[in-house]
Amino acid sequence: MSGQKKPWGGRFSEPTDKRVEEFTSSLHFDRRLYSYDIAGSVAHCRMLAAQGIVSSEDAEKIISGLQEILKDIEAGTFPFSSDLEDIHMAIETSLIERVGQVGGKLHTARSRNDQISLDMRLYLRDEVKNVLDLVADLQAVLVRVAKGEIDTILPGYTHMQKAQPVLLAHYLLAYWEMLDRDAQRLRECRERINVMPLGSAALAGTGFPINREYVAKLLDFPRISRNSMDAVSDRDFVAEFIFDASLLMMHMSRFCEDLILWSGGEFGLVAISDAFTTGSSIMPQKKNPDVAELIRGKTGRVYGDLMAILTVMKGLPMTYDRDLQEDKEPLFDALDTVKASLAVLADMTRTLTFNRGRMLEAAAGGFSTATDVADYLVMKGIPFREAHGIVGRIVGYCIEKQKDMPTLAIEEIRLFWKDADAHIYTCMGVDDSINARNTIGGTARETVLKRIEEIESMNID
Ligand code: ARG
Repeated sequence: MSGQKKPWGGRFSEPTDKRVEEFTSSLHFDRRLYSYDIAGSVAHCRMLAAQGIVSSEDAEKIISGLQEILKDIEAGTFPFSSDLEDIHMAIETSLIERVGQVGGKLHTARSRNDQISLDMRLYLRDEVKNVLDLVADLQAVLVRVAKGEIDTILPGYTHMQKAQPVLLAHYLLAYWEMLDRDAQRLRECRERINVMPLGSAALAGTGFPINREYVAKLLDFPRISRNSMDAVSDRDFVAEFIFDASLLMMHMSRFCEDLILWSGGEFGLVAISDAFTTGSSIMPQKKNPDVAELIRGKTGRVYGDLMAILTVMKGLPMTYDRDLQEDKEPLFDALDTVKASLAVLADMTRTLTFNRGRMLEAAAGGFSTATDVADYLVMKGIPFREAHGIVGRIVGYCIEKQKDMPTLAIEEIRLFWKDADAHIYTCMGVDDSINARNTIGGTARETVLKRIEEIESMNID
């Protein structure tokens, strides 16, 4: 389309440079907003008619034209011509072609600046719901696996060194809690997305007697924006969503990192099913945890999307600047990535097989119950610091003699604590260690089972 023929072409005498057209067009990515753009236009048009700004007859023509366009886009027959600037122009141009000059009345009391903010909010509001559903699916898988593994004991690590035994279920539910906060954050983010900006027009509002509350009601918005300049210029809701997506990715990435380590031969604690691993083109023996690695890798990509939007925003003079068109690709990319990752991780988690024997063996070794022995000494009246020292010396002795603590003779233990009797061995078992930790949030079997019960009785929308 040459310059003069563009919807904004009135003051132009020369056509737009072809390369500029390509460079400025967002149609190849913002077309995914089409249904929201149309829904927003239909609501706007109904309001214009209700307010007597356009006649009901004109409004009907415009609305049926928009509905035809929707059908054509859905059928794949809509011509997305590459010389159109964006989804708004593509739809408006086609509307005028279909219904004639009356189509030109749709843009009364509206600007693309408030229109795009509306489209983004409508779109993201729905997508947040989709992400929340996927988070809930992954959480449900974690609970199911946790229940099935309620007797499985895992070596718990700090600093990547064996620390204390824990229930595998407790570990899995740690991720449930993280995801629960991620979901809370998304629901809060949705509150701020769910604000109706139309009526802000280019930046200053409009002199037409519009009814913003009516548009909000038609589009099911609980609130309308209170400052037209704010409404057309900020994309904090986009940045906030990508931040929430980044945390979600970070949580998934850490889980994946454990699965990658644990599925390696040296650990051998878990097997990822064949369906979720891939082979090597050169080494026939290999079974690689590529899915987990890709989720870990894609986390970096979503962080990149967050940096992109924050950087796009940081120096923008008020109010709308075309830079804001650069909000879309990071948002779409973050959304696609987080949704795909959540879905594939839920499926993969369902198929994990834990090597219970090896986990128990690993959990029992490495002096993992040394804290329990120190706690036992404390119960016998020894101050914790002193108890810590005594047990530390016992551990040192064991390392030197290449023995495990439960295999020490009572005489050997008495070398470090003269009052020891056979009772001391009861705190060296992993089961005792785990079940002793029965305060709220601890790893005891009864505590974990209680948490599962609480989780199952929750009713989250
Ligand atoms: N494609 C534009 C965007 O995504 C729509 C708004 C354009 N507004 C304008 N005044 N050029 O931000």
